[in-house]
Amino acid sequence: MIHFKSVSKIYDNDVFALKGIEAHIQKGEFIFVTGSSGAGKSTLLKMIYGGLKPSDGSVVVGGSIVDELSSYRLAMLRRQMGIVFQDFKLLWDRSVVDNVCLPFYVWGKLNSENKELSELMMKKFDIWKYRNEYPHKLSGGEQQKVAICRALVTSPWILIADEPTGNLDPKSAEEVFKMFYEAAQRGSTVIFATHNEHLLSLHKGRVLKLDKGRLA
Ligand SMILES: Nc1ncnc2c1ncn2[C@@H]1O[C@H](COP(=O)(O)OP(=O)(O)OP(=O)(O)O)[C@@H](O)[C@H]1O
Ligand SMILES: [Mg+2]
Repeated sequence: MIHFKSVSKIYDNDVFALKGIEAHIQKGEFIFVTGSSGAGKSTLLKMIYGGLKPSDGSVVVGGSIVDELSSYRLAMLRRQMGIVFQDFKLLWDRSVVDNVCLPFYVWGKLNSENKELSELMMKKFDIWKYRNEYPHKLSGGEQQKVAICRALVTSPWILIADEPTGNLDPKSAEEVFKMFYEAAQRGSTVIFATHNEHLLSLHKGRVLKLDKGRLA
């Protein structure tokens, strides 16, 4: 499903963020990506959705080399992904409910069924009460929940989550972990970057541990 073939990334300032990453992720797998700050987790995740190009090697998703896709095909691939960005990337001038429904707006599929799905998801995360507020009125953890709802609401084939529990209390973090885990059981491929040792201890699947840009 997702293949990293000898992938390296050097940033413009000569920082070697990833070195010779070889990793193969199967459909329906739940993969933790871990490693200390600066180890390369976000860099690795960004390559799956074409947010960054490798300096060397290639990333293959669903049979296509990501950085060779036309912008149209890349957009189509991204439609199959739910992404929780480390910095959330919420739209600050849109209400909470509009943020969660954003994928449906973009696809022109904001029908009653999808509105209902969004409502259910927001109630699960206890943010329905904020639906008409702007995100800046919410706490960091609540904003993170908005970003998580937006990623999960479309039941994507691939879920990419960069520290999705970084701002959450332990109970909420465990609930979020469980929701991603269940998504994997329903067939989604989940790539979940975290430092959270407790969540790692709950996980029985594969862990990709990065150490200064290399797979440990
Ligand atoms: N845009 C950039 N330009 C230059 N260097 C960068 C850039 N983004 C990241 N880096 C560097 O690449 C390395 C890996 O960064 P990355 O963000 O992938 O780490 P991370 O494991 O996600 O860290 P964290 O746990 O703090 O989120 C770091 O040394 C970082 O300083
Ligand atoms: Mg990061």
